[in-house]
Amino acid sequence: MKKIAVLTSGGDAPGMNAAVRAVVRKAIYEGLDVAGVLNGYQGLIEGKIELLQLGSVGDIIQRGGTILRSARSPEFRTLEGRQKAVEQIKLHGIEGLVVIGGDGSFMGALELTLLGIPCVCVPATIDNDINGTEFTIGFDTALNTVIEAIDKIRDTATSHERTFIVEVMGRNAGDLALWAGLAGGAETILIPEEKFDSTDLIKRLKSGTGRGKKHSIIVVAEGVMSANELADILKKEANIETRVSVLGHIQRGGSPSARDRVIASQYGARAVEVLMEGRSGVAVGMRDHLVIDYDLQDVFKGLHELDMSMYTLSKELSI
Ligand code: F6P
Repeated sequence: MKKIAVLTSGGDAPGMNAAVRAVVRKAIYEGLDVAGVLNGYQGLIEGKIELLQLGSVGDIIQRGGTILRSARSPEFRTLEGRQKAVEQIKLHGIEGLVVIGGDGSFMGALELTLLGIPCVCVPATIDNDINGTEFTIGFDTALNTVIEAIDKIRDTATSHERTFIVEVMGRNAGDLALWAGLAGGAETILIPEEKFDSTDLIKRLKSGTGRGKKHSIIVVAEGVMSANELADILKKEANIETRVSVLGHIQRGGSPSARDRVIASQYGARAVEVLMEGRSGVAVGMRDHLVIDYDLQDVFKGLHELDMSMYTLSKELSI
């Protein structure tokens, strides 16, 4: 193997740059040429591919976003689009591709492997929703961003004796809401993995008020409903007045945490090793604190499992 390429795709996540740096530096360390593909799969189709040097990834480990840019590409979802991408890969003499992104990006990589392109995937999404790995790059930083916001909201919630609803991202997964709710001491956490029951929620809120609780923080994962919808339900069903805070895309930005930089470095380097071993259709990740690699197809054989003992614990601690 003489030349590989790396791309970032889908929603960006803090730590993607650290992963790109690791891929580039490890590849060069191993004597390979390494190219960067700009704008994800769309850039691959359009041949936006350039050779990277050690210096190309200098001073980026601490930066959020992705220097390679990211995109969601409808064209790549078509066979014609993917064939164009394969042509570009061959034209540039690329023998293996590292894809850094979430599950949509992983699916794209799987399709490319079926067209004969060796691909290895590195999980990077703030949602932490990739089956087979305990942690994705970006989750820890986003979690810290959410906690910082909750701490600030708690100050004003306390001063004004209010109930606040904080909506966090996560798509269909409750990881970000659950971890942030537990770490931020939220009184209530609503996640898509648990059936929403407004009667139960209202009962909990009222029993808190009955015990003299003057303020309360509800963390709702976007996969359950929007914070505004929830506010309407509480108002309509129980005349409970709330304030709403939708954190939005600030959760995707910012300098990556130490943990995200470390796992990004580990995942990126492992991805290069896997390609050099002549393997394809592989995902890297983490289990029991160890960096692992596994069959890319396994990602799609089940859903990422949330640690529900944390949910139980959050309920026990917020009585
Ligand atoms: O997958 C990452 C994520 O931030 C989700 O949490 C969120 O639902 C989605 O992307 C938002 O996508 P976009 O940036 O395209 O609005």
